[in-house]
Amino acid sequence: MNLIAPSLLSADFLRLEDDIEMVNQSEADWFHCDVMDGRFVPNISFGIPVVQAIKKKARKPLDVHLMIVEPEKYFEAFAKAGADDITFHYEACTHIHRAVQQIKALGVKAGVALNPHTPVAVLEDILSDLDLVLLMSVNPGFGGQQFIGRTYEKVKKLRLMIEEQNATALIEVDGGVNTQNAKALFDAGADVLVAGNAVFKSENPIETIHQLKQEQS
Ligand code: DX5
Ligand code: ZN
Repeated sequence: MNLIAPSLLSADFLRLEDDIEMVNQSEADWFHCDVMDGRFVPNISFGIPVVQAIKKKARKPLDVHLMIVEPEKYFEAFAKAGADDITFHYEACTHIHRAVQQIKALGVKAGVALNPHTPVAVLEDILSDLDLVLLMSVNPGFGGQQFIGRTYEKVKKLRLMIEEQNATALIEVDGGVNTQNAKALFDAGADVLVAGNAVFKSENPIETIHQLKQEQS
């Protein structure tokens, strides 16, 4: 699968509706919503009311990436706000299995995110329960950072684990994705690429999304 999820963290918040409409009209597949609490990551972004507002205009699924401590306290609120999937960090949660079941019980798809230093092997005993694994290819907290090259190996390892277990989780890569590395990431086995700056700082975001998808013109 080659899905593109533009990250609204890099959108123009004064013209959020225009940027949402651009994504609606583009070949992008999901809206990536980055929620930060200033505790798990050294930055604060937006929360529940903004996700609720995005949902009113978005005509594609909301992919909600929680970079917050104690994420399980907020699953219900984000589900009600309109999340189609909720991804929380492995490093921010002690009882991953319980948390995944909680998300699924809300009728929402469940994802686990790994920081760059966390090996994919830690997911061995939860992988078959997951709809999504998000591999961070920068340290979470900010858009516009440089892609960490080791991510390719992690994508390949995770793809093998998924095949060995006959699991169905999608592999999402988040951070520093651009038109130069998108093809190699899809080739390595990624299913979903998040792109913030590459899309929203582009002169022609619709065309950039098209190029990221690696479709022939
Ligand atoms: C980083 C966020 C990313 C970020 C990606 O903490 O999780 O989703 O917005 O932005 P770019 O594509 O600019 O690295
Ligand atoms: Zn993200």
